[in-house]
Amino acid sequence: MKNAQTMESEDLLTKRNEYLIPATSHYYENPPVFTKGLMQHLWDSEGKKYLDLFAGVVTVNAGHCHPEIAKRIKAQIDTLQHTTTLYVTEPLIRLAIKLAEIAPGDLKQSFITNSGTEANEGAALLAKAYTESHDFIALRHSFHGRSIMGMSFTGQSNWRGGGPYVAGVQFVSGAYCYRCPFGKTYPSCNLECAKDVENVIRTTTPGKIAALIAEPIQGNGGVITPPPEYFKEVKGIVKKYGGLLISDEVQTGFGRTGTWFGMEQWGVEPDIMTMAKGMGNGLPIGGFITRGEVASKLKPGTHFCTFGGNPVSTTGALANIEVIEKEHLKENAASIGSYLKEKLLELQQKHPLIGDVRGKGLMLGIELVSDRKTKQPAMAEMKRLMEICKDNGVLIGKGGLDGNVVRIKPPLCINKSDVDFAIHVLDEAFGKIA
Ligand SMILES: Cc1ncc(COP(=O)(O)O)c(C=O)c1O
Repeated sequence: MKNAQTMESEDLLTKRNEYLIPATSHYYENPPVFTKGLMQHLWDSEGKKYLDLFAGVVTVNAGHCHPEIAKRIKAQIDTLQHTTTLYVTEPLIRLAIKLAEIAPGDLKQSFITNSGTEANEGAALLAKAYTESHDFIALRHSFHGRSIMGMSFTGQSNWRGGGPYVAGVQFVSGAYCYRCPFGKTYPSCNLECAKDVENVIRTTTPGKIAALIAEPIQGNGGVITPPPEYFKEVKGIVKKYGGLLISDEVQTGFGRTGTWFGMEQWGVEPDIMTMAKGMGNGLPIGGFITRGEVASKLKPGTHFCTFGGNPVSTTGALANIEVIEKEHLKENAASIGSYLKEKLLELQQKHPLIGDVRGKGLMLGIELVSDRKTKQPAMAEMKRLMEICKDNGVLIGKGGLDGNVVRIKPPLCINKSDVDFAIHVLDEAFGKIA
């Protein structure tokens, strides 16, 4: 097997189409077959090397096959793989202690799942138990998972096929400043989008809610980054109406934005934080964490997850967190992220296709528009950009309601010369498309 052009790779694609349900789509017309990963790089079956700026959808935070994490996972597999939480095991407890140490404020008690979707499900269950309310507020352009509850919280039509959904979820506009739903401009807008949360609660709920769920920066929706005061204002309103603030940190967690968790960027302590992706550097693990007082409302023995908290995933997650600490990867995300953002802003001066550059740390987005005045989403150009970048050895992600936002969310270990290489490839690609 060589690459997507060879017989063997064609076979792989044919078999993929035959044996996987068609809903599992793949990037690229001629997808490379990846066979190896190390830190910020991937290699395909032909031996071609790629700089990975998407990290397996914002997941490989410490780096592909990070040797120290891999070593600890292997040792655990050879010792004890699975028992369930009905029995006591050390790796789960050690991970929970570490999560309490890095989580903001009083967030201390956690429940471990296999995925972000399950984490959001559990958080919703807990919020209902704690508040004895059933109504939720979510943000437009959000993505919270693929279960019925996850889809009910998701504010994008392309991720909402197959309803009906859970009743009692209302949507607020969110803070999409580049396309302000109120037609205003920050800061003279007076944060109308945040203030509207109160109108929505008062007009579409019983006047009391279980929770508002939000991503600190909306990832899948197109790296939509709110103004710094947005979540402070929103939290005040949520508290006024008896609700909890659930921060979905599935993409923003574990150093991605330059702090352990994304909500720290906004100086706000959520009541519940959900996590996955970068938590395990590629292992299937997720979870939610909250204050003891909130956690106590789920009665003992009423929540369970067969694989959640298994020794292998929890060992890997703890190793991942310790590597992020030891290798100063949050700090790297902050400094390399601002260098990268500066360079992207320079590209924006040169290429009219770039309508907006936004994000924090190593969670950056470039919104492509075919006309800066009308802000017409440039979907076809986005597809070409992805193909050209891939051909030149750089993998980028795609997001946004119209699929016109470049998502740059690499492993947090990238360095300045990786950024320079990526900018060179992007610059040439934008030039070609123009
Ligand atoms: C913000 C956010 N929440 C939840 C999820 C769902 O996580 P998972 O795919 O692990 O179920 C995702 C997945 O992309 C996500 O980006």
